[in-house]
Amino acid sequence: MRLQQGEPVAIPTETVYGLAADARRDDAIQRVFALKGRPAHNPLIIHVATLNDAEKIAYFTDTARAIAAHFWPGPLTLVLPIKPDAGLSPLVTAGLDTAAIRMPAHPIMQHILQAFDGPLAAPSANKSGTLSPTAPIHVQDSFGTDAPYIIPGGVSSWGIESTILDLSQHPAIILRPGPIGPEDFAAFLNPCPALHVPDINDQTAPRSPGLLLRHYAPRHPLRLQAIDIRPGEALLAFGQTRFMGIKGGGNINTLPPNHIWNLSPDGDLEEAAKNLYRALHDLDEQQVHTIAVMNIPSTGIGIAINERLAKAAKSSRDD
Ligand code: TXA
Ligand code: MG
Repeated sequence: MRLQQGEPVAIPTETVYGLAADARRDDAIQRVFALKGRPAHNPLIIHVATLNDAEKIAYFTDTARAIAAHFWPGPLTLVLPIKPDAGLSPLVTAGLDTAAIRMPAHPIMQHILQAFDGPLAAPSANKSGTLSPTAPIHVQDSFGTDAPYIIPGGVSSWGIESTILDLSQHPAIILRPGPIGPEDFAAFLNPCPALHVPDINDQTAPRSPGLLLRHYAPRHPLRLQAIDIRPGEALLAFGQTRFMGIKGGGNINTLPPNHIWNLSPDGDLEEAAKNLYRALHDLDEQQVHTIAVMNIPSTGIGIAINERLAKAAKSSRDD
């Protein structure tokens, strides 16, 4: 199989598609970084088939074990102190003394992990700094002629990257919001973990090196908290749109249908998360100058949606 030959392969997971490679081989991991154009100081998430496999890589406390037993397989990544004999390529962890580990739930990915019989490092299967892929076509479009072999597995059911919980420090913190929220840990962690907000002016080493980088960026600029749209804009909508107008006159019903993407007409945040990247990919293809984004409530998985949108808006302003 290609993975055994050190070739990176795009694989489906329930969060987003990953670009997987043997986590023990320097040459395989180097190819992942090269293909993505990812800076070497940004470590990768390690995917395992079982909790037992995870415990070969990192030290689990009783709390960590209970959290893993409860949420795995699923959209949760745990950052834990790495064992010296973990056998990982040092490139995977970018020299950190912790490892970010997750056991994915997607049945095809589980099957691959069992057949491969080893840890697979997998960042999202897109060029560094661009929108994450939630379907095979997004992987293909992101890499173009450099595209890796893609194992199709439908549309990712969560559609947004895993929650990253850092258990290597006290109190535990959430490094990246995702499908599992702070309150979901109430039975395991007291207090519930806070959301770590990276400080761009902090000159010390960031806790999660990837979190400060340009990220999730569409080609078009985003305009957040839109209450109306301007001529030449596409609309990323959420819930009711009947109050939205076009500046200078007009109704949004007069926009071409492919210039509007409603993440969830019913206002369902999980449905919105699942559609987020697909909608941004689709709107980014349109002949518009900006994507206007309606307000999305910051509750539950809405926190993760807004974090991705804020980064996407900031990236497009910066470049
Ligand atoms: O849902 C997901 O997590 C997807 C799927 C494919 O599993 N993967 C994903 O990987 O989102 P990526 O590489 O796009 O994001 C990994 C994040 C980066 O921000 C990186 O800095 C952080 O995890 N990370 C990796 N190892 C870490 C560590 N030891 N400590 C802190 N953060 C770490
Ligand atoms: Mg990514």
